[in-house]
Amino acid sequence: MQSDLRGRDLIGDLDFSKEEVETILDVAWDLKRKRALGEPHAYLRDKVLAMLFFFSSTRTRGSFEAGMAQLGGHAAFVESRTTQISHGDTEREMGEIFGRYFDGIAIRHVDWGIGNRYLNLVAEASRVPVLNMQCEIYHPHQCLADIMTIMEKKGRDLRGRKMVVSWAYASSYLKPISVPQSLILQMPRFGLDVVLAHPPEFKLMPDIMDQAQEQARKFKTGFEVVDDMEEAFKDADIIYAKSWGPLLTTHDPEEGKAIQDKYESWITDARKMALAKDDAIYMHPLPADRDIEVTSEVMDGPNSVVFDEAENRMHAQKAVMALTMR
Ligand code: CP
Repeated sequence: MQSDLRGRDLIGDLDFSKEEVETILDVAWDLKRKRALGEPHAYLRDKVLAMLFFFSSTRTRGSFEAGMAQLGGHAAFVESRTTQISHGDTEREMGEIFGRYFDGIAIRHVDWGIGNRYLNLVAEASRVPVLNMQCEIYHPHQCLADIMTIMEKKGRDLRGRKMVVSWAYASSYLKPISVPQSLILQMPRFGLDVVLAHPPEFKLMPDIMDQAQEQARKFKTGFEVVDDMEEAFKDADIIYAKSWGPLLTTHDPEEGKAIQDKYESWITDARKMALAKDDAIYMHPLPADRDIEVTSEVMDGPNSVVFDEAENRMHAQKAVMALTMR
């Protein structure tokens, strides 16, 4: 167990070593148990987290805010559009100033080529931890909740288990690629054989793919890329199928939508789930385009763990905050 994470930022999934992630998971389960028993766990009494959002959120906001209150502190919700950022507050100023007011700065900024850089510049100027609530490259707190959920359902020894990270069709908007990128970076460290499935236009960042392959080699797990959803689903233990935009191909919303619309058949339905193992779990970070991205039958069915997954956001984030913001 690595016990000293005080002051550390969590921006990219590999910022914490495997051992440090294991520490976070241990603490998350302890905090989950304490909440279930009604045991007080006010490890961050009088501490305040700034939550700076450049993009909308349901789960991330709710889970960070509730988590901070349960830890005895407070979370301040700040929307970029109601700040002076558009009138000139720089990243350095935000880091310097918010770093003096708050005990942690959590940021969601998913704009392509801007978000991750923004987080890193704030972190450079901040004296307190910067926590990534999703940028265009990573969604590390989602991924921590995901590994926690997988271990709860499949056990802590995941070696030999097949996890499918698949693109799925959605009609709403071009969703960020950060969730699949975080998954392919983190999951090999925990022994999962990852199969990444997507149509050709939905590639992930080459640098992230290289790092994922390196992790798979280091931890001696499988890492395969296919362009056939049904082929990928065969004999899988974990199905994680969600939409993302063709952002390495185009940033034009209309062109992107036209590309997405070619692949309406990439829906997770009962027929495809039947290709996976009988006890395969279905995961999705939400929000999902119901009956477009995944059928309600699957999402509300016995193999779906999406609500446990959403709950674990709060426990995992409480662990990160308790360890980094002490
Ligand atoms: N999964 C997730 O990050 O949800 P929100 O976008 O609602 O925060």
